[in-house]
Amino acid sequence: MTPSERASLRKSLRHRRRQLTPREQDAAASRLYDRVAGKRYFHCARRIAFYLPGDGEIDPGLLMAAALERGQLCYLPVIHPHKKNALLFVRFRSGDVLQTNRWGIYEPRLRTAALIPARALDLVFVPLVGFDAACNRLGMGKGFYDRTFAFRRRRHSPRLIGVAHECQSVPALEAQDWDIRMDRIVSDGKTYQPQ
Ligand SMILES: Nc1ncnc2c1ncn2[C@@H]1O[C@H](COP(=O)(O)OP(=O)(O)O)[C@@H](O)[C@H]1O
Ligand SMILES: [Mg+2]
Repeated sequence: MTPSERASLRKSLRHRRRQLTPREQDAAASRLYDRVAGKRYFHCARRIAFYLPGDGEIDPGLLMAAALERGQLCYLPVIHPHKKNALLFVRFRSGDVLQTNRWGIYEPRLRTAALIPARALDLVFVPLVGFDAACNRLGMGKGFYDRTFAFRRRRHSPRLIGVAHECQSVPALEAQDWDIRMDRIVSDGKTYQPQ
């Protein structure tokens, strides 16, 4: 796949998920919750990173609410202020103030005391633009998660779960050298695990 083919694939998949109605989004979020909420990997995780959805992304908010309720430690990504196209993770508690970043995406305020090293997370819910059945992930095109979790090539933790609408599935994605594969992908319709 050439870079321009990847760019046009991203464009059409993003368009597709933005077309979902609020009702379809709510139904998808609740099906995602049902697929994950009872799983051991979710219950057993102490430190979990979520994200706040935008651009038609599936909403993992019900899972975050359940985790907060149970006293699991929850984190949200914040754009790294110094390192290009990398993420930091900041603790989020119910009622914390959110602000918009340069792309209009909500983030918690960056507080040094609330930061956690990415490798200290147990479980990360990763947003994506496209995926295939082998758990390859196509992101927004800036490599944020690939860079932030590049160390996962040499470690098993944290567990990376890509979450998406089923309409973001594609027959096959050609992984690039730097792409980090997901341990599992959960859509509103199906769960995928690499063979
Ligand atoms: N670990 C890394 N170190 C340096 N550059 C990286 C790393 N991971 C990704 N990149 C760069 O980020 C850019 C976007 O990556 P890509 O995989 O196309 O985006 P996405 O994962 O968001 O779809 C690429 O030019 C790639 O070289
Ligand atoms: Mg990538």
